[in-house]
Amino acid sequence: MVSLEKYVLQEEFASFINGQQVAKSSGEPIEQVSPLTKKMWKTVLPAGVGETGFAVSSAQQAFKQWSKTPSPLRAKVLRDIANLLMEHKELLANTITLEMGKPIKESHAEIVYSASYFSWFAGEAERIYGTSIPSQFPNKSLKIIHEPVGVCGFITPWNFPIAMPARKVAAALAAGCTTIIKPSPETPISMFLLAKICQIAGVPDGSVNVVVGPEKEIGNIFLDSPVVRKISFTGSTQVGMYLYRRSADTMKKLTLELGGHAPLIVFDDASIEKAIEGTIIAKFRNTGQTCVCANRIFVQEGIYDQFLEAFVSAVERLKVGDPLDENTDLSIFIHESAQVKVKDHVEDALVKGAEAVLMSEQPYEPKILTGINPSMKIFTEETFGPVAPIMKFCSVDEGITLANASEFGLASYVFTNSMECANTAVSRLEYGIIGVNDGLVSTAQASFGGMKNSGLGREGGPTGIDEYLLEKYVSIAF
Ligand code: SIN
Repeated sequence: MVSLEKYVLQEEFASFINGQQVAKSSGEPIEQVSPLTKKMWKTVLPAGVGETGFAVSSAQQAFKQWSKTPSPLRAKVLRDIANLLMEHKELLANTITLEMGKPIKESHAEIVYSASYFSWFAGEAERIYGTSIPSQFPNKSLKIIHEPVGVCGFITPWNFPIAMPARKVAAALAAGCTTIIKPSPETPISMFLLAKICQIAGVPDGSVNVVVGPEKEIGNIFLDSPVVRKISFTGSTQVGMYLYRRSADTMKKLTLELGGHAPLIVFDDASIEKAIEGTIIAKFRNTGQTCVCANRIFVQEGIYDQFLEAFVSAVERLKVGDPLDENTDLSIFIHESAQVKVKDHVEDALVKGAEAVLMSEQPYEPKILTGINPSMKIFTEETFGPVAPIMKFCSVDEGITLANASEFGLASYVFTNSMECANTAVSRLEYGIIGVNDGLVSTAQASFGGMKNSGLGREGGPTGIDEYLLEKYVSIAF
């Protein structure tokens, strides 16, 4: 089998189906232009109806074998994938940075994060327990067993081109499901490398297929196919709602990781060091381009001036620049359209009375705005960039009410030294993830997922495997 080092050197990629790169294409090659070099470095032959249909039938065929593979053997393959990801960390991280411009130290972190999902789900594969239920009838034995849900269709974004598919694929393979992944057409090479690693680790052909092409066309094939039993999507709320509506006809299981608009609340009694450290990571990780990035920063009046001064000085120390430099904290955006929203949100806020406490020319450079009010776009919409909008509030009640004033409910952050305040916030915040004095909450061992318009279901954590299992209740009469 061709090594990963050799595989990545090929100039033209195409859909990876049933363990092979298919030669057929539905349309003109997609040119992959690196935001780093601004040059085309690869082409990808797009998949259409034919290729996606072939991927579905390959996954269906592979399911017969993989679903019956004993779970300890599945676990071993998953552990091997984790090890291979770590062995090839440099190559994979460089590919991510070349594809989407993420600072290299964050690309390294993404590989470690991705590997952790395979390790976690290897353990989960070995613990798919059934349940034995005491019956009211002396002649009956009742039990619940679990089975893999079947073929899964995944649609994944460009901001974490390996980690987002990794946490879906790891869970699915652990449960005994087979997969078809439609990565973002902007970052397909990272996904092809992940699929290759799965193959090298011993995942049977047809169990991890990759199709790159038009989102709607491929998405509709997933939706219409009765063979695809589950869809997992990370992306916009608008697309998530479409998938939700359209999944009804084939009654698919769904996991939807949608938009976030995370509030971060600093209460008067917070440790200023912890609040600054947490806000920096929650706001500027991945240059502000994560679904869990702090988008609205609420600071209580008693600590406001101290916080603002310390925050501005910490942000000024962040290093913006060459993504390949190990010391870089923030770097270029993937493409022009990623910049448009940032510019628009900043301009809109300034016109509506915000004050620019820290301003910079490029959209990917950090900015701090104060005097934010609910009429501004930045208050209601996800910015997906390194802009920190800060609002002052008076009481604990007001801070929490402002934080909940959103259609989204993915992540939230609270900084306080008071147990009472933390407990009040945790019980009242309408968010699926809450960091208390913690600005970096994502981890394979805990559930990732939102409330309200941020989606459905959970990834990772103790319940992540359930999303890929069906329950069968069995009543045995003697
Ligand atoms: C995301 O941005 O969707 C994922 C971020 C994370 O896993 O921390």
